[in-house]
Amino acid sequence: MPEITSITTPIYYVNSVPHIGTMLTTLAADVTARYRRMRGEKVLFLTGTDENGLKVKEAAEAAGKDPQAFVDAISDQFRVIWRGMNFSVDDFIRTTEPRHRRAVEEVWVRLRDKGYLYADTYKGWYDVSSETFYKESDLVDGKSPDGNDVRWVEEENWFFRLSAFEDRLLAHIETHPNFIIPESRKNEVVSFIRQGLRDTCVTRANPGWGIPVPGDPEKVVYVWFDALVNYLAASGWPDDPHYTASWPNTVEWMGKDILTRFHATLWPAMLMGLEVDLPETLVGHAWMLMGGEKISKSKGNVVAPLDLARDLAEKSGCSFELAVDAVRYASTAAMPFENDGVWTLENFDRTYNSDLANDLGNALNRTIAIISKFAEGRIPDAEPEAETVAACERAKAAFEEAMAGYRVDRAAHAALDVIRFLNKYIDTRAPWALAKASDAALPGVLRGMALCLRTAEGLIRPIMPTTADAIADQMALTPVTVWDEVGRRASAPGGATLGSPKPMFPRLESAKIGVAPTTEAPEPEKPKKPAKGLPEPASEVDIEEFFRLNLRVARILEAEPVEGSDKLLKLQVMVGSEKRQVVAGIRSSYSPEDLIGLQVVLVANLKPAKIRGLESQGMLLAADDGEGAILVSPERESPEGVRVR
Ligand code: MSP
Repeated sequence: MPEITSITTPIYYVNSVPHIGTMLTTLAADVTARYRRMRGEKVLFLTGTDENGLKVKEAAEAAGKDPQAFVDAISDQFRVIWRGMNFSVDDFIRTTEPRHRRAVEEVWVRLRDKGYLYADTYKGWYDVSSETFYKESDLVDGKSPDGNDVRWVEEENWFFRLSAFEDRLLAHIETHPNFIIPESRKNEVVSFIRQGLRDTCVTRANPGWGIPVPGDPEKVVYVWFDALVNYLAASGWPDDPHYTASWPNTVEWMGKDILTRFHATLWPAMLMGLEVDLPETLVGHAWMLMGGEKISKSKGNVVAPLDLARDLAEKSGCSFELAVDAVRYASTAAMPFENDGVWTLENFDRTYNSDLANDLGNALNRTIAIISKFAEGRIPDAEPEAETVAACERAKAAFEEAMAGYRVDRAAHAALDVIRFLNKYIDTRAPWALAKASDAALPGVLRGMALCLRTAEGLIRPIMPTTADAIADQMALTPVTVWDEVGRRASAPGGATLGSPKPMFPRLESAKIGVAPTTEAPEPEKPKKPAKGLPEPASEVDIEEFFRLNLRVARILEAEPVEGSDKLLKLQVMVGSEKRQVVAGIRSSYSPEDLIGLQVVLVANLKPAKIRGLESQGMLLAADDGEGAILVSPERESPEGVRVR
């Protein structure tokens, strides 16, 4: 086992800028890297750009640019965009760098000297888009199996004796159950090898771009034979005798398209030929499709990850850094593993609303507001209720198990589970009722709530580092950055004074969900004119008429100011088992934290109205003394949702 945990992504072609497809693999690797660092491992997270292929040269020509200037510019964009996505990259390798070229030349010379390379004529098809050689029988309707155009090639070339490695490859896969993940893809690789591996062409005629073949400069090294070497070059091989500090790689992340032919056959065979150890694990995840197709420049369905974050920040009002976290979270949670996933802006926005604006936002606001209200803002020095401790342990164990199998999607769900548990726990344990009844359980409930929130901060950190810091900041505690501390009672210490809750992920109103990004700012919604005065009450009404009003006892669960209004509060109230949103003009009389847990009377069958674009599903009864509102509250704690008459 090397002393350094090395985590890699494919190196990306620089014929186009990053999109959410290439971002996904890099994100999965980043989440892995951040998690392993929290566990105390020394991590090297490697990514980079693949610059030597014909595809890149032709893209430069099409853009009318000098190839080197073209690849420099696009490679820079990858670095900038990955930094914007907060990817914790330790090393970025480019195949036009001397360290890479040196390693490729050495691989060539060693394999040639061992007799694994030989000259022959290549006659067959070439797909420039995927830089892959195909034989006639591979083609489907005259195109590559992926539907790309192919060109006929007849050249004197060099071949690699891939066929010599069939048995050794199968034996390695058999004896290393974690070599290829997931299982279904491992089976595909095994049947591909069993069909028989043919020696593979590993050079092309030199087009004036690429790494010339040592001793045969009329040819360049085939771009895949060249690109795969990046992983080894980054370790310092062949010149650094300490390259084994980070070699072999712990995990090489990639999409399924480049697993079978390249990473799971050609690459390990090259390493076997060199007598260099093989990477521990190859993960080949599924694709994210858009409109039924793989996201790619040639399909014209590219979404740039930072544009997505920028649009979200604009639409929702959250900060750009938190919007980046939202893109990270939603993409991790939707990471396609065994089966292809489908990307839509609507799904993305809905995940944002349900998981971040609602679940995470509520858990954070309510926990801090409730501890402020019922414990003077201090985490009580009491034993957290066993239920909360168990929920934290469960979520942590589920997260670890998911990450052990590289299921970052499941890890994201485990992190959210503790948040969802916390919201339910607050509803069922009803700390406001415990406070009213001076119940001795209250301190343990509050400590348990703080522990859950803190555990969520730790679990979410590899996925949403900025959000995790913000949670710690709002709790006025030092961030939990060490895995062992996640879920520990001591991480939510009794006696600690919390800060104040600040909204992080404002809800997207339904009208904005999925709205395609525009450059022009939308017309601001005109606030409705407030009714001038109230109509006079009738001199008398029938009792039947009065009974047509559905008045119910409701409990305020959440309260927050409506942005841009100094009068309105947005409330979430429970009426029995039903949750309602009510927009109430009581901001001048109440601060949001004073309302949490309060029982009030709701006119439950009032026709819903839109106030400042927010739906209000009912009205709270209040007295009006001319100065402001005084809410009507049952004289003592009432059963939830009962009728008032
Ligand atoms: N340059 C080669 C890799 C060489 S590695 C030694 C290459 N580059 S690429 O730019 O085409 O990137 C391919 C990788 O991007 C895929 O394997 C996958 O990891 C990722 N993805 C690109 N589009 C994607 C989706 N639509 N969905 C999921 N992953 C996506 O191949």
